[in-house]
Amino acid sequence: MINKKVEDILNAQINKEFYSAYLYLAMSAYFDEIGLKGFSHWTKVQAKEEVDHGMILFDYIIERDGNVDLRQIESPSKNFENPTQTFELILEHEKSVTDSIKCVAELSEDECDMATRHFINWYITEQVEEEATVLDVIKMLKMFGTDTPILYHIDKELAKREYKEHSYKNK
Ligand code: FEO
Repeated sequence: MINKKVEDILNAQINKEFYSAYLYLAMSAYFDEIGLKGFSHWTKVQAKEEVDHGMILFDYIIERDGNVDLRQIESPSKNFENPTQTFELILEHEKSVTDSIKCVAELSEDECDMATRHFINWYITEQVEEEATVLDVIKMLKMFGTDTPILYHIDKELAKREYKEHSYKNK
C-alpha cells in the first residue's frame, strides 16, 4: 500500500499533467486560428504526451494499491500573442512542472518510498528533454526572426513531429 502523503502528491501531479494537456490544446487551437498548422500539430502531439504522463502516474498508483483521485482541471490561459511569446510561456510552464516533479522526488525520499523515488526518475529525465526541445524552438524563432517566409519554414519543421506513445509499461 502506498504512503498516503506520496499518494496525494502523485494525484496532484496527475492533475498537473492533464492541465498541461489542456494548455497545449489551447495553444494548438490558437496556432490553428492564425494559420500555423505545424505549430498546431506540434502542440497537439505534446498534449497527447501529457495525457500519457498523467496515465503513467494513474497506472502506477493503481499498481501500488493506492487510490486515484481525479481533481478538477483548471481552464488554461488564452493569452497567446505570437509564436515566440507562446513558446516562452511553454518554457515557463515546463519549468514549473519540473519543480513539482522535484517535490515528488523529495517527498518520496523523505517518506522512504524508494519505489516512487525510482519511478519518478523517468519524469526527471523527461523534463530535461522537454525543456531542451522547447528552448531549441525559442532559439530558432529568435535567431531567424518571425518574418512570414521564416515562420513558414519553422512551421514545416514542427509539422514533422511524430507522436510516440508512452505508457507505464513502456516508458
Ligand atoms: Fe508532462 Fe510537459 O510535462
